[in-house]
Amino acid sequence: MKILVTGGAGYIGSHTIIDILEQTNHEVVSIDNFSNSEPATFDRIAEITGKRVKNYDIDLTKYATLKREFFNQVGKIDGIIHFAALKAVGESVEKPVKYYQNNLNGLINLLKCVEKYNIKHFIFSSSCTVYGNAKEQPVTEDTPTQIPESPYGYTKLVGEKILSDFAKTKHGFKGLSLRYFNPVGAHISGVNGELPKGRPNNLVPVVTQFASGWIDRLVVHGNDYNTPDGTAIRDYIHVSDIAHAHVLAVEYLDKHDTEKNYDVFNLGSGTGVSVLEVIKAFEAESGERLNYTIGPRRAGDVEKIFANNRKAVDALGWIPKYTINDAIRSAWKWQQHLNTLKRDGKVLHG
Ligand code: WQD
Repeated sequence: MKILVTGGAGYIGSHTIIDILEQTNHEVVSIDNFSNSEPATFDRIAEITGKRVKNYDIDLTKYATLKREFFNQVGKIDGIIHFAALKAVGESVEKPVKYYQNNLNGLINLLKCVEKYNIKHFIFSSSCTVYGNAKEQPVTEDTPTQIPESPYGYTKLVGEKILSDFAKTKHGFKGLSLRYFNPVGAHISGVNGELPKGRPNNLVPVVTQFASGWIDRLVVHGNDYNTPDGTAIRDYIHVSDIAHAHVLAVEYLDKHDTEKNYDVFNLGSGTGVSVLEVIKAFEAESGERLNYTIGPRRAGDVEKIFANNRKAVDALGWIPKYTINDAIRSAWKWQQHLNTLKRDGKVLHG
């Protein structure tokens, strides 16, 4: 099959492309306008897989360009894995229109192309943020979604609705929303990983950059939660496990002529881990001591969320194989690779 990966230069997109190229015979093309990534990612994919993926630098919010420059050029596309979206929770609160315009128009334009070019499969990158502060933990796919705390989270909830409503209208079309918990870690080779633009928001890149002296503070956002050590609990899932789930989801759509034209899967490890436990895991894996400080809770944070992943395990045959320590170790290996590049004067967009 020929698969379009949007956001192919991004964190989860690049790891998913690597897994597709290493585990299947599918052809992959990418659309990425490098708004939060860099062209060098495709060099890293080539270094790991020996294959050069063609990327089209197109803004998905430009429908006419998308048709003319991509779909009219590349021939038949069998499926789309749609990662490309803005994803900084805090920034989405400051710039809501930018987030709604980019994330929703990009999705809508792609679905208009699904219609026009008769594309059968569509996998949407969603997020556990749609569960909000769910009381019932771990959350299942049937746990009621709640009004997300941020415009970013809203673009995921509304995006799922747009896809499920669209799927009802298209005979033979099948769509999936994959709800990621907290993707962490880097490719086992240490030569591909997360390189957020500017100061990272997410815990693990903050930890590895703080340990490398790239940022000057590591603040634990609140230690007065109703959790064993007072810090918030999340379900940290290795990015390579997330990537493999997408390979299995592509096979699932291809093989299962299920009566369902739309479905949802939680992609989490099933284990809740606190902020302090992440910090302690990093200290154990790296041998570094982290001189963190305790600060106030961060607006929009939930106290605890972790996944019941049985549905994905049973239906997709997905077995997450990495632990939080594996993820931390791989993230630190990647950070040390970045430290070497930086020391050698290589320009990093991070
Ligand atoms: C995890 C925990 C922080 C930084 C968000 C989105 C989700 C997905 C992942 C994109 C929280 C604490 C963090 C720091 C800290 N988005 N923390 N100090 O907010 O759970 O999820 O990112 O893919 O959809 O909602 O992830 O890594 O920012 O925070 O104490 O410097 O770490 O308060 O408890 P989050 P996170």
